[in-house]
Amino acid sequence: MAHRIAVIGGDGIGPEVTTEALKVVRAAGVDIDTTDFDLGGSRYLRDGEILSDATLAQLRDFDAILLGAVGTPEVPPGVIERGLLLKMRFDLDLYVNQRPFVGTAPGHSAPHDFVVIRENTEGPYVGEGGVLRKGTPHEVATQGSVNTRMGAERAIRYAFELAVKRDGAKHVTLVHKTNVLTFAGDLWQRAFNDVAAEYPGVGTAYNHVDAACIYFVQDPHRYDVVVTDNLFGDILTDLGGAVSGGIGLASSANLNPARTGPSMFEPVHGSAPDIVGTGKANPTAAILSAALMLDFLGEHDAADRIRTACDQAGTGSTTEIGSRIASVVAG
Ligand code: IPM
Ligand code: MN
Repeated sequence: MAHRIAVIGGDGIGPEVTTEALKVVRAAGVDIDTTDFDLGGSRYLRDGEILSDATLAQLRDFDAILLGAVGTPEVPPGVIERGLLLKMRFDLDLYVNQRPFVGTAPGHSAPHDFVVIRENTEGPYVGEGGVLRKGTPHEVATQGSVNTRMGAERAIRYAFELAVKRDGAKHVTLVHKTNVLTFAGDLWQRAFNDVAAEYPGVGTAYNHVDAACIYFVQDPHRYDVVVTDNLFGDILTDLGGAVSGGIGLASSANLNPARTGPSMFEPVHGSAPDIVGTGKANPTAAILSAALMLDFLGEHDAADRIRTACDQAGTGSTTEIGSRIASVVAG
């Protein structure tokens, strides 16, 4: 049976990189049946649709969603991000954002291999707060961070399960800022301790997020699985990409591990409107995101072959890199 994939190319370089990712998936011999969804900033500017309930209902019927990138400079910040990307993460309950980092950090001689599990449905991303007296000298803005025991615990549990399964050091590091965010940090730390007690074979550590920024650069080998909240995870995973060969290689999986609906796969990078149409976009991040999708769909052999082929991606234009990876995968 073909896997049914909803494809949201999106804006900027998004459609360019998803085209290459689909080319590679097909070259790997995986049977997919794709349906394009025209969503993103350009669509919004044309007819006002961001993500209607009807479109969301259609998306629910697919096995997975492959997304390129969304966001365009003509639309104010937050409109597409909140209305499309975050709406999918929240409404489809994609509570794990899994971002693997394999590469050799600058100044190091050996490659590292770790993965960040970013809680994907809570924290400051939920949009709690508001503004008063806007535009006056007495303006007030609040933006709270929402942390539930259930939300933290399920992300942490996923991280421990992954540590058990992965061919790594069997180790999970909690990253937070417990010395300042004493309410949220305490909830996360206790949830972490309780889950850790269920996994006596898995080692644990705790890093404050500022210290983790140093270790990501200076000592990335200390990590196997990192688990953290939504905003820390957002920031840390850009740094993870930067020390692992660049953001052009950074892939991600927005997972609904309970499989009550489709999961969504997208590169960490954005729509890069400055390079659209130049052929400069590296499709590798999108291709590796498609490999994560295949893993989630049970196509592990194809996913492994794609990852191996990406090591031989070389340089060139968007389509040159995509075609080279596709031909290596096809064998
Ligand atoms: C990411 C992106 C998004 C995020 C933006 C586009 C809303 O930066 O996937 O990391 O902050 O989660
Ligand atoms: Mn980000």
